[in-house]
Amino acid sequence: MNAIESSSFAVSEFLSTPLKLHIGGQQIAASKGQTFDTLDPGTGGILATLAAGDAGDVDAAVAAARKAFETSGWATMPPADRAVILHRLADLIDQNAAILGEIESKDVGKPRGQALAFDVPHAAQTFRYYADLSVHTRRREPFAVSGNEAWSVRHPYGVCGFIFPWNFPFLLIGWGVAPALAAGNTIVIKPAEDTPLSALLFARLAEQAGVPPGVVNVVTGLGSVAGAALANHPGINRISFTGSPEIGRLIGEAAGRNLIPAKLELGGKGAAVLFDDVAVQNAAEALVGAVTLNAGQVCCTATRWLVQEKVADEFISKAVDAMSKLQIGYGGDEGTQLGPVVSQKQRDRVLGYIERGKAEGAEAYLPGGLADVSQYKDGFYIKPALLGGSPDNIVAREEVFGPVAYVMTFKDEEEAISLVNRSRYGLSNSVWTKDLDRATRVAEKLVAGNSWINAHNLFPHGVSYGGVNLSGTGGGVLGPDTLEDYYRKQSVVRPL
Ligand code: NAI
Ligand code: MG
Repeated sequence: MNAIESSSFAVSEFLSTPLKLHIGGQQIAASKGQTFDTLDPGTGGILATLAAGDAGDVDAAVAAARKAFETSGWATMPPADRAVILHRLADLIDQNAAILGEIESKDVGKPRGQALAFDVPHAAQTFRYYADLSVHTRRREPFAVSGNEAWSVRHPYGVCGFIFPWNFPFLLIGWGVAPALAAGNTIVIKPAEDTPLSALLFARLAEQAGVPPGVVNVVTGLGSVAGAALANHPGINRISFTGSPEIGRLIGEAAGRNLIPAKLELGGKGAAVLFDDVAVQNAAEALVGAVTLNAGQVCCTATRWLVQEKVADEFISKAVDAMSKLQIGYGGDEGTQLGPVVSQKQRDRVLGYIERGKAEGAEAYLPGGLADVSQYKDGFYIKPALLGGSPDNIVAREEVFGPVAYVMTFKDEEEAISLVNRSRYGLSNSVWTKDLDRATRVAEKLVAGNSWINAHNLFPHGVSYGGVNLSGTGGGVLGPDTLEDYYRKQSVVRPL
């Protein structure tokens, strides 16, 4: 039971046969035989061909999840027994890290080292965290009342739908489904069409770990077909979505019609506020790292850099220096720091934003543009850009989702706070200063789900992470309260 199939598991073999849907523990072709391709954004070539599920396939997956909820024993298993299986799943993820990291790197374009250092192990750890938390969560809890005896009892919610984006496909599966599974739910996953591969491996690993067939189902396919069918399906009890606010609205509308809870994790326009007492070199390097992580396709990362006037020139020149030194290249090649963006569509979108930002009068400290990576002429590579100027510029306001930062200056604390809070997004920001009183004060005044101090992009297990306003609704992930979301709580009362 070590590697996914055997020690001879070859990624090339996995990719060479058309991949099927994963429903009820079986690998099944799409009902009408339809397929679609996922690309390797580093080469622009086809990476694999997959089944394109439709509404009928989603029906079959929801039915399999319902059957598993009612009959597989997963929902009624003592939490400690489920936790043993989820720990085994976490171990299998770690044991298969090389395979998962390679597939994730090829499908998304991200540097393989980043997938290996962060995406894969962090996902594994999320299963351990929620497995342990579920063991220490009371099934029954008394209410403090007089005249009656009353308690609440936690049940698993039922069949939970998950629709995931393409930026961190495997990591987000871990963040999303670990609490749902730990609470005893069964699930249907619709991965993004640009990056569907690791979800299929995940379903196989789950069953190898002992999760009963039908508990984890995966329907690959297009968002407008399979995604819409899942979001609108009357047979699901909850829906969780991570992606753009535009599609998030559609998911919320569908959930409203079906009267089910929706957990929406949407985009961001994160700011970093740098006061003039910071170590400028360190801060510049850290923020360049943050905005180019995953080619900038990170919803919470720092894309608006607010710098106090006194150190602005120094900061900009150090940031430009660090940004222009980044090694752009294929995700699987040694030394690559900045891989391609996920698709041609995303590349055009990012380049379009850079052009519109300049046309609106932004200063181009580093102009960005198409990157030429010699062996990979057809890959979707972009040079990082640093623009700056007015907070009204489109690049200061909208989510670009590429290696593009926008720098602005401020005079004092009050101005910095109001600049950050202009955004309609509310996911995450950071405050950089040696003065911890000021850091705390400012961090708590920024309207968003998360504030970080002297760092950006921190995701410790056990700390809630999620957005407000245009960045989402539904309580976020990674925290103890997320496990609660996946229980259906019932009150029981009897007179004394
Ligand atoms: P998207 O929101 O269209 O896709 C996310 C997921 O939703 C995918 O699985 C997709 O198949 C599915 N989907 C698409 N249409 C659907 C529908 N009608 N019903 C149900 N599911 C549907 O994201 P997209 O178009 O790939 O990226 C657009 C922009 O969204 C990005 O440039 C970025 O700004 C933002 N985004 C934010 C993410 C985040 O983590 N917050 C992740 C991905 C995108
Ligand atoms: Mg791909």
